[in-house]
Amino acid sequence: MEYRKLGTLDLEVSVVTFGAWAAGGWMWGGTERKDAVEAIRASYDLGVTSIDTAPIYGQGTSEEIVGEAIKGLPRDKVQILTKYGMRWDLNKGELAMKSKDNNGNDIDVHKYAGRDSIIKECEDSLRRLGTDYIDLYQIHWPDVTTPIEETMEAVAQLIKEGKVRQAGVCNYDVAQMQEAEKYVKLASNQVPYSMVKRDIEADVVPYCLENNKAILAYSPLERGLLTGKMKPGYTFSEGDHRANIYFFNDENLKRTDDFLQKIKPLADEKKATLAQLVIRWTIEQAGITIALVGARNADQATQNAKAINIKLSQDEISFITDELNKLELVKP
Ligand SMILES: NC(=O)c1ccc[n+]([C@@H]2O[C@H](COP(=O)([O-])OP(=O)(O)OC[C@H]3O[C@@H](n4cnc5c(N)ncnc54)[C@H](OP(=O)(O)O)[C@@H]3O)[C@@H](O)[C@H]2O)c1
Repeated sequence: MEYRKLGTLDLEVSVVTFGAWAAGGWMWGGTERKDAVEAIRASYDLGVTSIDTAPIYGQGTSEEIVGEAIKGLPRDKVQILTKYGMRWDLNKGELAMKSKDNNGNDIDVHKYAGRDSIIKECEDSLRRLGTDYIDLYQIHWPDVTTPIEETMEAVAQLIKEGKVRQAGVCNYDVAQMQEAEKYVKLASNQVPYSMVKRDIEADVVPYCLENNKAILAYSPLERGLLTGKMKPGYTFSEGDHRANIYFFNDENLKRTDDFLQKIKPLADEKKATLAQLVIRWTIEQAGITIALVGARNADQATQNAKAINIKLSQDEISFITDELNKLELVKP
C-alpha cells in the first residue's frame, strides 16, 4: 500500500481507503453484515488502514460494522474517518430527502449541523465505533440553516477535548472552505471524483493544491459503473439508488462500456482488472490525495486494494485520459 499525509498532524492515510457506505446497506438494497466485516478485514490485511464511514450510512449500521471489523486491532494502526450533519432522527435543518431505512421504514433525512447536534452525534459515533477518538471528522453536506461559524467552532471544541483529531468537510465549494477555515484548520475536502465526474478540477482542485488541503475522492468507480461489469440491461436489486441515476441508463452504460473496452487491452497488459486501472488512474490525478472505494465483500475489497500494485507511466495515463475525453454521456 501507499500512504499519504492528511492535514497538518502526523497522520498518514492509505491511498486506497475503504468506503463503508454500501457496507451499511442503506440506498444499496441492504447489507450482508458478515460480508461487510470481512471486506474491511481483507482490506486491512492488504494495508488499507483507513476507513471512511458516516452515521447516516445504514442509520448507524455502517459505523457499527466498522467498529466490529477493527475490534482487536491496535487503534493507532487504523484511521477512522467519519461524519456528522445528516440526521434521520431529528426534525431540524433542511430536509435533504425522504427515504427508507434498511427495515423499510420511512425516514426524513435532514442536513443539520447545529452545535448541540454535533456534540451528540460525536458521542454516538464514538460508541458505535468502539473508540475514544475520530481521526478525521467531516461535515457530510453543507447545512444552509446553520452558520458555518457555529458548526466549525463545535468541531474545534471536540478537537480541544481530544475526541477528534482533525476537521474535514465534504461536498463544500471553495467559498465554504474559506469560510470554515476562519474557525478551524481544515485538513481536507471529500468530494465526488471519478473518470466520468471531474467537475472539481475547475475549482476545488486548484484551491486545495494551493492551500495544502487533501482531497478525498469519493465514488471513484462511479458506484460500480467503471468496473466493466455493467452492460445495457443491467438491473439493480430493490432499494438500490443507482437504478434512478442517469449514469446507469442503457445508453450511458453502452457508451461507458465502449470506452472501457478501449482501455481494456492496457489493463490486460498490466494483468489488472478494469476497476484496478480506474483506481490507479484516479489517484494519479493532480490534487487527489486518496480514493475512497466501496466494496460489498472481501473479493471486491481485495481487488480494489491491489490496485496499488498497478503502475502507470505518464504516457499510459495520457492514453487513458485521451480516450476518456472522447466519452460523452447523455445528461438529463
Ligand atoms: N461524502 C459523501 O457525500 C459521499 C458520497 C458518496 C460516497 N462517499 C464515500 O465514498 C465511498 C465510495 O463511494 P461509493 O461506494 O459511492 O462508490 P464506488 O466506490 O465508486 O463504488 C462502490 C461499489 O461498486 C461495486 N464494486 C466495488 N468494487 C468492485 C469490484 N472490484 N468489482 C465489481 N464491483 C465493484 C460495489 O457495488 P455492487 O457490487 O453492488 O455493484 C461497491 O459497493 C463511500 O463508501 C463513502 O465512504 C461519500
